[in-house]
Amino acid sequence: MATTRAVPRFPDGFLWGVSTSAHQIEGAVDTRERSVWDVFTAEPGRVRDGATAEVACDHVHRHGEDVALLAGLGVDAYRFSVSWPRVRARGGLDFYDRLVDDLCAAGVRPVPTLFHWDLPAGLDWRERDTAERFAAYVSEVAGRLGDRVTKWITLNEPAEHTLLGHALGIHAPGLKLLFDALPVAHHQLLAHGLAVRALRAAGADDIGIANSHGPTWPASQDPADVEAAGFYDLLLNRLFADPLLLGRYPDGIGELMPGDVAADLEVISAPLDWYGINYYAPTRVGAPQGTEIDFGGIRMPAELPFSVREITGRPVTDFGWPVVPEALTEILTAFRDRYGDRLPPVVITENGCSYEGVDDPERIAYLDGHIRALHRALEAGVDVRGYFVWSLLDNFEWAEGYARRFGLVHVDFATQRRTPKASYAWFRELLREQRA
Ligand code: BGC
Repeated sequence: MATTRAVPRFPDGFLWGVSTSAHQIEGAVDTRERSVWDVFTAEPGRVRDGATAEVACDHVHRHGEDVALLAGLGVDAYRFSVSWPRVRARGGLDFYDRLVDDLCAAGVRPVPTLFHWDLPAGLDWRERDTAERFAAYVSEVAGRLGDRVTKWITLNEPAEHTLLGHALGIHAPGLKLLFDALPVAHHQLLAHGLAVRALRAAGADDIGIANSHGPTWPASQDPADVEAAGFYDLLLNRLFADPLLLGRYPDGIGELMPGDVAADLEVISAPLDWYGINYYAPTRVGAPQGTEIDFGGIRMPAELPFSVREITGRPVTDFGWPVVPEALTEILTAFRDRYGDRLPPVVITENGCSYEGVDDPERIAYLDGHIRALHRALEAGVDVRGYFVWSLLDNFEWAEGYARRFGLVHVDFATQRRTPKASYAWFRELLREQRA
């Protein structure tokens, strides 16, 4: 065991959970429609080793075993995502109906995310219409599951979906629009606002979003680096938080968005019951260097007005991401300072790391460090209500295929055998101590 001192006690009612997403675990592609990720994955060279999510963790057929793993872990809640392409297929909602029943029977609270990047093939976030269609789908899901599901997440990480999928072309749908991808951000935010409206109409009163945020550190105090880091902070953090929490875009951005932006912002800024933050690592950013940069598999074109720099002197995960737990405290206190009483209670909707092996002391150290950092944010007065580990299972890690393992449970993709890792036992013990 990598740590000895007990993690400080979190308040009663604090929500402990784990997260997954549909496309990354479900498999069973024959019982759903295709998504932009299926189309993207079929293109040669898009996903490492030509891996596909056709089987993934075969979760649709093995959800009983996976719910038993959740119950054995002792989490309060399970964050999974509902696949829009599955809901569009005949009988598609039946699967989530059963999953929700099984979770409730096992005493694990279901927390569905309504969109985690698997847009139905043929739809396009550049079209405003996609936001309206999303709201109709959300109404359908809420109508079916709303008698048992009480906590909802609209979108997962519109920032990454915009940046990786539409600006840089590393994720589906593989578009390289750079700043012309901004309408994709706006339409997802609008989809979020319309989804909140649809969920409220269905009686929901516990709604959040899972946005990806992290501190942006200037590479130096040189004004050019500070300016570039400020711009990156605007793109990753403020572009996706300001509209929700302040009802406006950062200066200069609203003019670049399509449609009646003022009217849309009214919808987008509908009050939330809580705000979800997915946190993995901070980003160090400097002035542009005039060359293309390969950053952890992400090719950043030379024409961007910033360049991402390495953070040195820190352990790194198998993904090459630096391990910086105190940056979790930093982003939370920064949000509290930036948004004040406009910031609702916060839930960490994802946090985790990729490491090989069933004996995974590095993952234990990562989670231990970050949970302590979260407690420090709480002590500093940030109203944090929950923490979800990414992820329950090793899974299809997008463009990296099966090469990155984020699970508390190891999956042998040849046999589908699940083996709880040392970190699973460690997290179970932590939950036990928290409740003692
Ligand atoms: C995403 C997950 C992903 C994880 C690790 C998050 O950005 O929401 O789907 O697997 O990071 O890369």
